[in-house]
Amino acid sequence: MASISVVVCLLLISFAVGRDQQNQSGHIAPGSLLSPRSDSSSWLSPTGRFAFGFYQKGRSDHDFAVGIWLVGTEENITVWTSFRDDPPLTSNALLNFNKDGKLVLMLEGVQHKFITEATDQSASYASMLDSGNFVLYDDKSNIIWQSFRYPTDTILGGQSLFRGNQLASSLNKTDHSTGRFLLMMQYDGNLVLYPANTEDSAGDAYWSSDTYSSFSPNWSLYLNYTGLLLIINGTSTSGRGSLIRRIYSPSPSGNVINNSNTIYRATLDYDGILRLYSHAYDESGNLSVQNKLWESALPCQVNNFCGLNSYCILDDNQPICVCLPGTDFLDPNKRNLGCERNFSEAESCINGKERTEFYSMKTIENMRWGDRSYVHEPPMSKEECRKSCLEDCNCGAALIALISETSGSCMKQNLPLRYVRKYTEKEFGGLTAFFKVGMKSIKSGKQSGLHPNKPRIVVPKSAIVQIILVTSAFTVFSTVSLALSCLFIFKIRILKYGRLLENGDLGPEEIITLRLFSYNELKRVTHGFKEEIGKGSFGSVYKGSLQKGKRLVAVKRLEKLIEEGEREFRAEMRAIGRTRHKNLVRLLGYCAEGSKRLLVYEFMSNGSLADLLFRSQRRPAWTERVRIALDVARGIFYLHDECGGPIIHCDIKPQNILMDEVWTAKISDFGLAKFLIPDQTRTFTGARGTRGYIAPEWHKNIPISVRVDVYSYGVVLLEIICCRRSIELDVSNDDEILLSTWIYKCFVAGELEKIVKWEEVDKTALENMVKVGLWCIQDEPALRPSMKSVVSMLEGNITDISVPPCPTAA
Ligand SMILES: *[C@@H]1O[C@H](CO)[C@@H](O)[C@H](O)[C@H]1NC(C)=O
Ligand SMILES: *[C@@H]1O[C@H](CO)[C@@H](O)[C@H](O)[C@H]1NC(C)=O
Ligand SMILES: *[C@@H]1O[C@H](CO)[C@@H](O)[C@H](O)[C@H]1NC(C)=O
Ligand SMILES: *[C@@H]1O[C@H](CO)[C@@H](O)[C@H](O)[C@H]1NC(C)=O
Ligand SMILES: *[C@@H]1O[C@H](CO)[C@@H](O)[C@H](O)[C@H]1NC(C)=O
Ligand SMILES: *[C@@H]1O[C@H](CO)[C@@H](O)[C@H](O)[C@H]1NC(C)=O
Ligand SMILES: *[C@@H]1O[C@H](CO)[C@@H](O)[C@H](O)[C@H]1NC(C)=O
Ligand SMILES: *[C@@H]1O[C@H](CO)[C@@H](O)[C@H](O)[C@H]1NC(C)=O
Ligand SMILES: *[C@@H]1O[C@H](CO)[C@@H](O)[C@H](O)[C@H]1NC(C)=O
Repeated sequence: MASISVVVCLLLISFAVGRDQQNQSGHIAPGSLLSPRSDSSSWLSPTGRFAFGFYQKGRSDHDFAVGIWLVGTEENITVWTSFRDDPPLTSNALLNFNKDGKLVLMLEGVQHKFITEATDQSASYASMLDSGNFVLYDDKSNIIWQSFRYPTDTILGGQSLFRGNQLASSLNKTDHSTGRFLLMMQYDGNLVLYPANTEDSAGDAYWSSDTYSSFSPNWSLYLNYTGLLLIINGTSTSGRGSLIRRIYSPSPSGNVINNSNTIYRATLDYDGILRLYSHAYDESGNLSVQNKLWESALPCQVNNFCGLNSYCILDDNQPICVCLPGTDFLDPNKRNLGCERNFSEAESCINGKERTEFYSMKTIENMRWGDRSYVHEPPMSKEECRKSCLEDCNCGAALIALISETSGSCMKQNLPLRYVRKYTEKEFGGLTAFFKVGMKSIKSGKQSGLHPNKPRIVVPKSAIVQIILVTSAFTVFSTVSLALSCLFIFKIRILKYGRLLENGDLGPEEIITLRLFSYNELKRVTHGFKEEIGKGSFGSVYKGSLQKGKRLVAVKRLEKLIEEGEREFRAEMRAIGRTRHKNLVRLLGYCAEGSKRLLVYEFMSNGSLADLLFRSQRRPAWTERVRIALDVARGIFYLHDECGGPIIHCDIKPQNILMDEVWTAKISDFGLAKFLIPDQTRTFTGARGTRGYIAPEWHKNIPISVRVDVYSYGVVLLEIICCRRSIELDVSNDDEILLSTWIYKCFVAGELEKIVKWEEVDKTALENMVKVGLWCIQDEPALRPSMKSVVSMLEGNITDISVPPCPTAA
């Protein structure tokens, strides 16, 4: 009773005080009061752009929340909400900045909640600032609490998202309670988007800023007042060194925006997409419509936008959820909650064999999902994969990724499936998904006897979250970059690394992450670029060590690059970082700081193939040379055909083929030609590559294709066969100066033993290798074989290699 009268009393005071609660400079004095029903339901910033107080939740006149919003002409945009997950407030709620300097929310006059619960200090006054920050000050005008420190789903110009903090999306446009997606500023420096209630593992992520360091850096997301969205080094005060990455910067050619007239905000929208908006004021001070400046992803690229067993498609540019064949929506009114089986599986499994007459299989092309398959079948045809799933009691869906034209790896899977994505043929071709669909509906089917041998997962509505957690624990192979990655990774990881992972040989991080280094770190790693171990077409290479000297690396400092934006460079690095092959030198990380571009590679302890062939005392044995030739061919084949878009190396030569500690040949410097050549698809006039190895078309005005690498490989192959350089002046007979001419001569004359100096070798193998080499160095690009055929020929799968014409035939 007493408290109610206090409230009534306070209410009277507040109405008496009315709008005089704020003095001219916008300071709010203790003893000020807000009520949703009264005239004073909010405190405005000095220019009236932002307001703090009670706002209406949705369309209801009775439900309120306490928050901060951008005051608009037609609608207000909420940028912060206090106690966002509490039940809505009624019109009886009061907000009291009391005489003790505490901001207290009073519900029905009795229940108290401290809005600024994070501080015990008493405030002398409060201010709603024009930046959108609501601040409490002590008597010395020090900040003791500010809303900017506790972001909900939005950061505004001048605001940071600090390390370890997150934004959580709102439920929908009008309900600002916690929604289904998170943006985390992680301790490893990476800014990552995840669906809520997952393990936040790499497989769950659907976007990241790709900034991470193992040094647990103190990095933050920062939106500056001019609309730059940045990852900055929180430990260093502003200045050049503090920028880690620009996520968005207004285009330099674009209109100069009048800063004081524009408000920027980055919001994790309810649909899981992080967007940067600008709001400009016109001359009369009215807020114009918002502009969307940037977004993290497109609709339908957000993991779990549609729930389990469901995928997203665009309908009239709006994302909508569609159930997989054989499933129906859990709740047709809330379609993004996912789908469940609509048929009964009872009594169809006999002795581990499915009674196939109960089922049919539906096919969807170019679809994949995020879960780990329970079984990888050996390569088979599409039809065999379909049948294998149909007959398997545990199989609800299967995915086949074609490796060759007719066969691929068949991956079988139980339901539920999460993160199902439909791609276009161009984005992600070569995938076919099969779904088991029952003939009997769940209602008509017998519910009683689920076969004991059939451990199928049935999805109870309440347990979706749990299942996401459980299934995500099994997901090792999908990672941040995988979401966007090329078909190759998909294949290789499932087919090859799948087993490695189970053995614990390689963690997913080891497989996928490219580390971002700072220049200073690399300076340390290389002890100030002390030991130069090579000089290539791109710049110098230095020896360095990571992990306290345990892991040796080679740091390549790129020079002589064409102007390359940081973004393009990063994209390129990611493409290279995604390549994984036994015969490619691995890129471990890179640095892109200002104009500095450095690459960090695994260290190759046995030098280059050039050292081995031309300089070493020991002429490598024939069998060793055959193996090396095949190693190199496989590496190039992979670059050309197996890693998504073809990567043309452009500079295949023995100096670029490095030997690891067990003498495996690995190609280095791949993917860098891009930085020297503006556009690989266009006709190119200035020759790249190295004399003696470059294809003749470099000098002609015809387009460059992967066949330039085939040519270079041919030259290298002949060098490997003979252990000598393609051009050698110091020879007894002038005929021998040009290796290719000499070899062709010997080949025609049937005197191949000459070229190996009567070394004891397998004659047929030698002849075949020479034929392959001569085919590769044909002047006419169309005559050269593909690397695929080269590998087949060298592997001995193609035995009847036809006789090559003279390579330089006019
Ligand atoms: C407004 O109030 C604050 C604290 O209540 C005071 O420090 C300040 O001087 C006042 N400003 C004006 C212009 O009255
Ligand atoms: C927007 O906020 C202002 C200031 O609090 C308020 O007067 C106005 O009614 C609000 N408009 C809407 C549409 O809610
Ligand atoms: C937002 O969510 C609330 C609570 O689930 C619901 O009542 C409301 O209708 C939703 N509004 C919109 C616009 O979807
Ligand atoms: C925003 O960033 C730009 C570029 O780094 C800088 O020139 C500008 O001064 C910054 N503005 C503010 C208000 O921090
Ligand atoms: C991290 O950066 C923030 C922002 O600059 C700073 O306030 C904080 O003290 C830093 N933390 C550490 C541990 O350096
Ligand atoms: C961040 O700033 C600190 C302090 O200036 C510095 O030691 C550190 O190297 C910086 N980190 C990066 C990655 O720039
Ligand atoms: C920017 O906005 C301010 C405040 O409205 C105005 O006084 C100024 O003239 C504007 N400047 C330009 C270059 O438009
Ligand atoms: C600004 O908004 C007010 C109130 O909505 C309206 O009356 C006025 O016409 C607007 N001014 C302009 C220039 O649009
Ligand atoms: C199950 O749903 C699919 C649509 O996904 C529908 O075609 C099929 O008829 C349904 N089956 C039963 C038995 O209801």
